[in-house]
Amino acid sequence: MRITVVGTGYVGLVTGTCLAEIGNEVICVDVNEEKINKLRNGIPPIYEEHLEEMINNNLAKNRLKFTTSLERGVKLSDVIFIAVGTPPKSNGQIDMSQVDEVAKSIGKYINGYKVIVNKSTVPVGSANRVKNIVYLNMKDKSIEFDVVSNPEFLREGTAVFDTFNGDRIVIGSNSEKATEIMKEIYESFNIPMLITNPESAEMIKYASNAFLATKISFINEIANVCERVGADVKEVAKGMGIDKRIGNKFLNAGIGFGGACFPKDIKGLMQIGNDAGYEFKIVKKVLEVNNAQRIKPVEMLRRLFGNLNGVNVSILGLSFKPGTDDLREAPSLYVIKELQSDGANIKAYDPIAMENAKLVIGNSMTYCNDPYEAVEGSDVVVLLTEWAEFKKLDFNRVKELVNRPLIIDGRNTLDSNSLKEKGFEYFGIGLGD
Ligand code: UGA
Repeated sequence: MRITVVGTGYVGLVTGTCLAEIGNEVICVDVNEEKINKLRNGIPPIYEEHLEEMINNNLAKNRLKFTTSLERGVKLSDVIFIAVGTPPKSNGQIDMSQVDEVAKSIGKYINGYKVIVNKSTVPVGSANRVKNIVYLNMKDKSIEFDVVSNPEFLREGTAVFDTFNGDRIVIGSNSEKATEIMKEIYESFNIPMLITNPESAEMIKYASNAFLATKISFINEIANVCERVGADVKEVAKGMGIDKRIGNKFLNAGIGFGGACFPKDIKGLMQIGNDAGYEFKIVKKVLEVNNAQRIKPVEMLRRLFGNLNGVNVSILGLSFKPGTDDLREAPSLYVIKELQSDGANIKAYDPIAMENAKLVIGNSMTYCNDPYEAVEGSDVVVLLTEWAEFKKLDFNRVKELVNRPLIIDGRNTLDSNSLKEKGFEYFGIGLGD
C-alpha cells in the first residue's frame, strides 16, 4: 500500500517507520526542512528504542522516504495519516491549526480516492471537521474520499514495541470502503481491532488517557494516607491489583504523571465536556492531585531541613519517565523550580535527557557526567525518574561521596531495606516509614 504520514513527531515517525517495516511504501512529510534532511540521512530527531535502526533499514530498502512536499505526499499515496501536533492553547482548548492546514492542502492536491486518517489526538468531531475542510478546498468536487479516526495508544520510550504489540487498534469510520482499507493495513499486526464510529474512536483516546491518569492520582492519594497511618502503598497496590477488575498496572505511587499526553489530554477532555455543556468533575481533581504530588519531594525536604537555602541537592533523573529524553511536563521541572526558589544548590544527572535539560532549564544548576559526580558532597539525593541504572548504583560508593546519606526516592524504586542497612536515611512515597 502507498501511505503518506504527515508530521514526523514521535507518533508520525514511529507510525510511518513501522508501516514501512511491514512492507508498505511510506512517505513521511514535515514542514521542517532540517528535520527532513537529518531523517533522509537516517538520524531521528527523538530518542526511541529501535527507531533509528528501523528507519535506516527501510531507507536502505527504499520503502521509506522523507520530504517537505505535502503535494507529493498527497498525490502519490492512497492513504494519508495526519499526525501533526495538536498542542493545548492557553485557554485549555486544543490548537487544531496544524491539522486544518494539512486538511486544506489535501483538498488542494487531492487527485483520486484517498482515505484520510486522523492519527493526532483531536477533539470529538474532528473527523467531520477535516472532511469539511478537505471538501471546501477541492477544485474537482467529484473526487471521493473518506476520513477515519485511528487514535494511537503508544507510550513514549516503547513506541515501536507498542505499535506491533498494542492491546487494540481502534478505527472510527462511517465508510465500509475506508474500513476495509484500514483493516488491510493493520491485518498483519495481529492485534484485536475495534471498529466504531469516528466520534466514539476520538472519545476512546481521551477517556483511556484520562482513566490511566486517574489510576495514578488515585494511588498517589492512597499513598499520602498510607504514610500517615503506617501502611505501605506498594503492598496496598499489590493487594488491589490482584483483583482482575482493578488490574495491577498504573498503580505505582510516586511524584505523579508528566509527559506531553496525560496533562494535555485531561485538559482537552474537560474542554470537550465544557463545549458540550458538561463539567467534568473527576478529572479536574486528578490534575489537582497531580500538581501537588509532583512537588512532594520538596515538601519532604522542607520538613527535614527547615530551610533549604544552601542545601546541596543531587537529582537523579530528569525525564518524565525512563526510556525517553522528553522533559515535557516532567515533575523534575517543578521540583527544580521550587528548590531553586528556596535557594538550594542543585546538581543533576540523567542518562539521556541532559541535552534537553540544558535547553529547558538553562545554566541555573550543575549538570553532571555520571551519577557519582552528581552525588558528590550532597546533603540529599532525590531520585525523580526510575532509570534502571539507578537501581544498580554502588551505594557503598555513594555513601562515601555524600555529605549526608539521605535519599528521597520519588518513584519507590530503590531497595529501601538494603539502603537502610548501609546506613542511609531513606524516604519513599507512601511507604509508611
Ligand atoms: C501515555 C499512554 O500510556 C499511551 O497509551 C498514550 O498513547 C500516550 O500517553 C499518548 O497519548 O500519546 P506516555 O505519556 O508515553 O503514554 O507515558 P506513560 O507510560 O503512560 O506514563 C505517563 C506518566 O505517568 C509518566 O510520568 C509516568 O512516570 C507516570 N506513571 C505511570 C506513574 O506515575 N505511575 C504509574 O503507575 C504509571
